[in-house]
Amino acid sequence: MQEYLSAVRVLDAVINDGKSLDAQFKATDSPLSKQISYGVVRDYFHLSEIVRQVVKKPLAGKNAELHLLLLAGLYSVDNLNRPAHASVNAVVNAAHGLKLGWAKGLVNAVLRNYLRNQQTINASLGDNLEARLNHPDWLIQRIRSAWPAQFAAVIAANNARPPMTLRVNQQHMTTQAYLDLLTAIDIKAHTGTFADSALYLAAPANVALLPEFARGYASVQDEASQLVAALLAPLEGMRVLDACAAPGGKTCHLLESFPGIKLTALDFEAARLRVVEENLQRIGLQADCVAADLLTYAATQPYERILLDAPCSATGIIRRHPDIKLLRRNSDIDKLAATQLALLHAAWRLLAPGGILVYSTCSILPTENEQVLEKFFVAVPEAILMPIEASWGYPLTYGRQLLPDQQAHDGFYYARIAKAIAS
Ligand SMILES: C[S@@+](CC[C@H](N)C(=O)[O-])C[C@H]1O[C@@H](n2cnc3c(N)ncnc32)[C@H](O)[C@@H]1O
Repeated sequence: MQEYLSAVRVLDAVINDGKSLDAQFKATDSPLSKQISYGVVRDYFHLSEIVRQVVKKPLAGKNAELHLLLLAGLYSVDNLNRPAHASVNAVVNAAHGLKLGWAKGLVNAVLRNYLRNQQTINASLGDNLEARLNHPDWLIQRIRSAWPAQFAAVIAANNARPPMTLRVNQQHMTTQAYLDLLTAIDIKAHTGTFADSALYLAAPANVALLPEFARGYASVQDEASQLVAALLAPLEGMRVLDACAAPGGKTCHLLESFPGIKLTALDFEAARLRVVEENLQRIGLQADCVAADLLTYAATQPYERILLDAPCSATGIIRRHPDIKLLRRNSDIDKLAATQLALLHAAWRLLAPGGILVYSTCSILPTENEQVLEKFFVAVPEAILMPIEASWGYPLTYGRQLLPDQQAHDGFYYARIAKAIAS
């Protein structure tokens, strides 16, 4: 029952108060309560429609907690590794714990009604696109119009549970050697397809169990993010700016891959920058960490390489952060694109003649990717678009897009821009 009390607290913060899912968990929350919370957020549109059909009256206002408990119950009877009736009993008891004792009969009846008529109820959701695809309508429209041929696969990947992916620190050992270490302790994994340093675990594992994790032999990072460092390809001794660095995944990968560079890790959120410092410390790497706004940052000298991993809608990583489907609004996308363009101009001003800038996002929406680049090239005609020759993703007029793959990498966008020596 405790798992439902925790889950309702977390779901209330996310669904009713618009807070981020990851940030809601306490050390005392069990893995089961996390599974229920993530599951409800992932299946929110589907589960809400079932509640609407079965309860037939709105459960808002003072009944908001009852609504959340029913969502958690419906998720549990279909998805937990225990008999459905055990979940029903635990949810009914939780009603009592939430001071919803008066609703115990209703909770019991709704869940048992669902179990009896599951097939009919699920079949009747077919007409409701949001419920069937488990995405908000605005996002369905945007993904369909951007990626008509890949639409079904993208939706399926977004609704799947993500793999846990590692980046092996090549300064210590090869990816194969680390895979052998994992195999020796019975952790099953396989290598990535596109990034040399990537390993996919067959099942998520506690990082404390991973060989030499505390000494930085491996880090958790999706394969799509691991493709960025090679696109920047800084040379020995170069001044490199990681212009939106926190929490530092790409900062660390750049330093692991190119140990001779002088790297500045910049971010305007001081608390997030501290996470960059912790990551650098764990792995034993060094960077100059600067808490500043890129829009006004004045460097003493220009940089020969700049990575702008811009803030974005995160629509390429929905399976890792399913709350994006609830927290983002359609109106956010144009605002994000305006910010991204302003950040790109700010980064460009800091780039040395002859330098290279990589723009990346974990978005799959053209408004934040190709269209930002298009506007930039109209405003800065002397900028040079550099090709990205790769065996992965979709080549675009501006840049290259990777879409989320159910079994493998996240969705990500990449573009490379050079500044002429004489400009
Ligand atoms: C997508 S995240 C970066 C992820 C990071 N590159 C990594 O691989 O771990 C974007 C970051 O940009 C930062 N940011 C957003 N606007 C900024 C600005 N004007 N100046 C500096 N940092 C900014 C945010 O605080 C956030 O940490």
